[in-house]
Amino acid sequence: MSDPKPTYLRDYRPPAYRVTHTELTFDLDPAATRVKARLHLERHPERESGLPLTLDGERLVLKAIAIDGQPLEEDEYALTEDGLTVHRVPERFLLDTEVEIAPEANTALEGLYQSGGMYCTQCEAEGFRRITYYPDRPDVMATFATTVIGDAKREPVLLSNGNPVERGELPGGRHFVTWEDPHPKPCYLFALVAGDLEKVEDRFTTMSGREVTLQIWVEAENLGKTDHAMASLKRAMTWDEQTYGREYDLDRFMIVAVNDFNMGAMENKGLNIFNSAAVLTHPHTATDAAFQRVEGIVAHEYFHNWSGNRVTCRDWFQLSLKEGFTVFRDQCFSADTNSAPVKRIEDVSFFRTAQFAEDAGPTAHPIRPDHYIEITNFYTLTIYEKGAEVVRMLRNLVGWEAFRRGSDRYFERFDGQAVTIEDFVGCMEEASGQDLSQFMRWYSQAGTPEIDAHGEYDYANAEYRLILRQRTPATPDQPDKLPLHIPIRLGLVGTKSGRDLPLTLDGESLGTDAVIHLREDEQEFVFTEVSEAPVPSLARGFSAPVKLRFPYGREDLAFLLANDSDGFNRWDAGQRLAMLALDDLIAAHRNGVEKVMDSRVVEAFRTLLSQDSDDKAVLAEMLTLPSEAYIAEQQPLVDVDAIHAARTFVKQSLAMALRDEFLAVFEANRSEAPYAPEPEQIAARSLKNVALSYLMAIEDEEGIELVQRQFAADHNMTDVRHALTLLVHSSRDDLAEPALRRFGEKWAHDPLVMDQWFSIQVTRPQPDALERVKFLMEHPAFSLKNPNKVRALIGAFAGQNRVNFHRADGEGYRLLADVVIELNRLNPEIAARIITPLTRWQRFDEARQALMKAELERIRAEELSPNVYEVVQKALA
Ligand code: PHE
Ligand code: ZN
Repeated sequence: MSDPKPTYLRDYRPPAYRVTHTELTFDLDPAATRVKARLHLERHPERESGLPLTLDGERLVLKAIAIDGQPLEEDEYALTEDGLTVHRVPERFLLDTEVEIAPEANTALEGLYQSGGMYCTQCEAEGFRRITYYPDRPDVMATFATTVIGDAKREPVLLSNGNPVERGELPGGRHFVTWEDPHPKPCYLFALVAGDLEKVEDRFTTMSGREVTLQIWVEAENLGKTDHAMASLKRAMTWDEQTYGREYDLDRFMIVAVNDFNMGAMENKGLNIFNSAAVLTHPHTATDAAFQRVEGIVAHEYFHNWSGNRVTCRDWFQLSLKEGFTVFRDQCFSADTNSAPVKRIEDVSFFRTAQFAEDAGPTAHPIRPDHYIEITNFYTLTIYEKGAEVVRMLRNLVGWEAFRRGSDRYFERFDGQAVTIEDFVGCMEEASGQDLSQFMRWYSQAGTPEIDAHGEYDYANAEYRLILRQRTPATPDQPDKLPLHIPIRLGLVGTKSGRDLPLTLDGESLGTDAVIHLREDEQEFVFTEVSEAPVPSLARGFSAPVKLRFPYGREDLAFLLANDSDGFNRWDAGQRLAMLALDDLIAAHRNGVEKVMDSRVVEAFRTLLSQDSDDKAVLAEMLTLPSEAYIAEQQPLVDVDAIHAARTFVKQSLAMALRDEFLAVFEANRSEAPYAPEPEQIAARSLKNVALSYLMAIEDEEGIELVQRQFAADHNMTDVRHALTLLVHSSRDDLAEPALRRFGEKWAHDPLVMDQWFSIQVTRPQPDALERVKFLMEHPAFSLKNPNKVRALIGAFAGQNRVNFHRADGEGYRLLADVVIELNRLNPEIAARIITPLTRWQRFDEARQALMKAELERIRAEELSPNVYEVVQKALA
């Protein structure tokens, strides 16, 4: 096999022919589905006459082909492994093809496949070419008419995009439904679902008074788990009308829950297909976090109807155009619906852990990459989350009103078109009158900018000088970086008053909370009329996706933790303070020196615990130590054992010193009230459960008793799962085993709960975790063919169980490589994702580096899918 070739952004050209209308007929069969396609084609006005017609197609068996009703002779076209070329075609014509495909053999879950008893499709990014011959690129937008023929008993429900226009019986117990989608769309938004499904239905009246039917389709046993998704959908529809003026545009909106799905969900026009984990909830099966995730994903997919579907991407290099904007939209929606500061804290702590690691590793890439081998490898935290941070910076730079005008302009001007990131930013420039040319570098430069800040207070002149230096480290293919335009939101907190001081810069008064613009490598800002010595509070709300260093002393951080008016930075000050203590303890562990707890951290926690907090959710975040993954991100060289030991030591020290305080918080936040996924309840539960983790940290009688009681009370999944995790992650196997057994037996029938059961076990710090993974891979509920199971068992072990995955004997690496090799054949997309922890070898000691690289080499020696090839190649470059 020859090495797969990259695609380059600079090679973009419009297609030679465009499709104005697409008619499809599916005659479903597990082993031999027939797909007839009639494409209405015409020459693209910007391309010359006489070009051949090239269509994408993979794993298709061509049965018939005709142009304008005339079957083609064999010398009139050519077939290859990845497509079909017709040498000569008219300027406008009809192309008819018929192909055969085998959904039951499709384990990659791209194109048409079977999940349980049902048929479903996944076409983004390039899956439609596994369904029929087509120009499988997002800049070809057509209206679709789709007829689905299935067995009336096995597939009573036949769905596709748009509106059903005809249905009827056919001989042999078959039936059909025809769907029409009036909105031109790229084929990646095509969808088909067929099976024995039940629906829950609701209605929504849009702002202009149109009635929309809302349906969620699930397998019968899941009918009781759709309420939250439906409520979330209606909230999202209202929010998009009120916030962006965007209205839904079809008579019906459907969501389908599917058990086998590579990603979270997919925004197919009018027919969103969801991983069942991203839509089904019930108080007894889903945690608060899962409820919130479902709400966010339902909203995300719904918002794509405008940011993605009505206005789509010209090519896949522009992926962040729809994903960055839509993630930003769903983040704001969730912030408006729940606790806004907590949403920001959660998003940022995830971002700084996972996206920073991506940006610092061998697969680092810009938000708009300039080449790729396999586009499915680019559905990344950089495209999604960093893309959203960049849109957020834009909103902050131009202000909400101009941003909204720019957004209106974008949707109006480009409705029905496939466009670029310049088109989007251009609308923001027009609406605001600002020059965003330097800002555009955020889209082309990879890597996390680092800002070194320091400041000086001049008593005599009442001035505060702040000096900022920016530098973006080299990333693969990009040795040299240019300075970025970085908005820094800040305040100066007076050390006497504890208040934000008025800011005066260059004679202009800016209020007490302002944004300064860093554009040069180094810039100095002199604030005048500063009446007392301040501690600066920098990059408030994480105003830019950067690493900002400032030489804060521990007193400064304790001061900010107590006084900063910005909730996010208050939390961040606590994290920085904890990090300083953790750094000392990591060093102590490595040097074999006795560990001593920093009393300032204890006192800061004591203060937090004794205050009457009006925001319990924020308090819960403040009481949570940085995760092992985040701590690792801050170290020059990762020592997983030292990190684990240091963090455990801090947790136990706090638990011993503040036992009564934690107990009081635990008791004050218990509740027997019926479960509701509402912000106040969620906040109280998370605070109570954080307290419980501390109470269990030293595993004394009382802590154990409380955890066991919470587990036995069986009140809701959030509490049960938390209690079970504390038991299983403790040293008390005598308590863990019966609880695990009870939970496993009770939920054996529920795949989504079994996923949690798997994850809890394989993330335990005890040394048997790896053996457990192997053992559980043989469990009847596990399957390598189901992506959720792979993520729950292998993904959780390799990604979250740092001490055991990085075992010094290399067995963790070997296990992951074995799985990657097997998945490379079954599901290349998942194989290429699950491999990530192995690609981060540069961060570890030499012995581990060698072991990790050896496993990557072993993988590289296999016959690889382009997906895995691309990642392994970069990791070993
Ligand atoms: N476009 C989907 C989303 O973010 C994600 C997705 C990509 C799903 C590719 C499936 C395949 O909403
Ligand atoms: Zn999306």
